[in-house]
Order: sequence, then structure tokens, then C-alpha cells
Amino acid sequence: MDHLINGLKVFIEGNSKNQAIIFVHGFPYDHTMWNNQIEVLKENYYCISYDIRGLGKSYVGDGQYTMEAFVWDLFSVMDELHIEKPILCGLSMGGYISLRAIEKEQSRFAGLILCDSRSEADNNDGKIVRSTAIDKINVQGVEAFVSEFVPKCFHPKTPERLNEMYESVLELTKNQNSVGVKGSLLAMISRRDTTDSLKKIKIPALVLVGKKDALTPPEIMEKISKKIKKSKFYIVPKAGHMSPLENPKFVNEKIEEFMRKNFISEN
Ligand code: MLT
Repeated sequence: MDHLINGLKVFIEGNSKNQAIIFVHGFPYDHTMWNNQIEVLKENYYCISYDIRGLGKSYVGDGQYTMEAFVWDLFSVMDELHIEKPILCGLSMGGYISLRAIEKEQSRFAGLILCDSRSEADNNDGKIVRSTAIDKINVQGVEAFVSEFVPKCFHPKTPERLNEMYESVLELTKNQNSVGVKGSLLAMISRRDTTDSLKKIKIPALVLVGKKDALTPPEIMEKISKKIKKSKFYIVPKAGHMSPLENPKFVNEKIEEFMRKNFISEN
């Protein structure tokens, strides 16, 4: 079932009496990147996903986004749906949103699943890379940008091994709104560093990263996991930066195990 909340397209699966999991996707994708997880998890959990402002089917507006606004959006979904103590599951940019949301209001969450992400803000070189990306979109359009960016997100063998999935994800990104994509880049450039608050995270966490993640490599994710008190860390085989899409079986098993050990559901 889909809803429109605060201009955001929100998708709900499963029984609302069960433990809720909110899935926050990466850049420049949409909520469908979690389909393989939700398909399995909806049996026992209340699964909520949404398109981040400016991406997918959500409101685009003027593209003047900030990471704080992305976090307010997340809280607006939780408030509107009366979701208490969900598990927050974010990949990459979805992870930036999740870490900042937990930094702000940890008591509102029961657990964290962090996939292929980082806690540091962009460094100087990173800011230039994003500025160049915005310029490329202005001059050549979104398609030119994603044709260069998306291949870097996957394991080198994924385009051949999972060709249909890869092509459909690439196609999806080519059709994203240019104002929305640039808006996400601006929000990421200006985001806060959440590294110092990792040691304050007391809720259980699962940290997953693709073995060949070139954007947020395993060393970075392992450091994050070591700073969080109750954290489990796994490297996802046969995956780059898009582990839930590239190795759904492994990712689902680890999420199910994490959920079973830490949380109960009605079913
Ligand atoms: C993502 O997958 O969300 C992006 O790679 C994040 C980023 O570019 O920092």
C-alpha cells in the first residue's frame, strides 16, 4: 500500500502489530532497492520504505535540500504513521540520514541496520567531486552523470552476473529528476559528521558492507561497527556498494538473524 506523507511517497507492507523496520535508500536510487528484503521480512515485520525527497516518486520542489530536512522527513513519516521504536535500516545516503536521526533522537529507535555507509562528512576532495557532479548534470544532464556514477556502485562482476537487475536500476536512475539529484548532492555536501556520536549508540546495530564496496569500503564500515557498543559486522560476498541488491540472500539472512536475536514480533 502506498501513501503520500509530507510530499513523500511511502510504501507499507506487513502487519502493523509487528516490529516496524523503516528502510531508507541510497543515492540516486529509490525505495525499490529494498524490494528483495521487504518481500521476505514483511511476513514477520511491519516494513516501511519511502522515496527520499527529490527522488523516485516523492516531491521534488526547489532542490534546496539539507540532510537535516531529510531527517525531518523521516520523523514526519514516523509521526504520521504513529510508528514507535522502529529499526532504522539505511544504505549509504540512507545511512547518513539514519546516523543523524539516531544522533538527534536515539530514544525513538529500537535498532540500526547500516549498509555500505560512513559517518564522516565529505572531505575537501569529496566536496569538489560532488560540485563537479552538479556541474556535469547542469551541462550534460542526469543520464551522463548516472552512466558514470552507477557502475562505480556495483561489484565489477555484477553488471554481467545480475544483468537484468543492473540494467533496470541504471534505467531507473537515468529517469530521476535532475533538480532532485542535485538537491541530494547538496544535502550530502553540507551534512554533519556523526562519527563522535557512534560511541553513544546503545541500541543493537547490524553493520553490513559489500566485499568490493569501492565507495564505502569494508575498513571504514568495520571501524564504525567497532565504535558502536552492541554491533555485529559482516562483509557481504559478491557485492559492491549495493549489497542488498547484489547479494540479497546473504543480506536477508543476516537481517533475519539480527531481528530474531534482538526483537520479537507478534507473528
Ligand atoms: C549512496 O549510495 O547513497 C551514495 O553513494 C552516497 C554518496 O555518494 O556519498
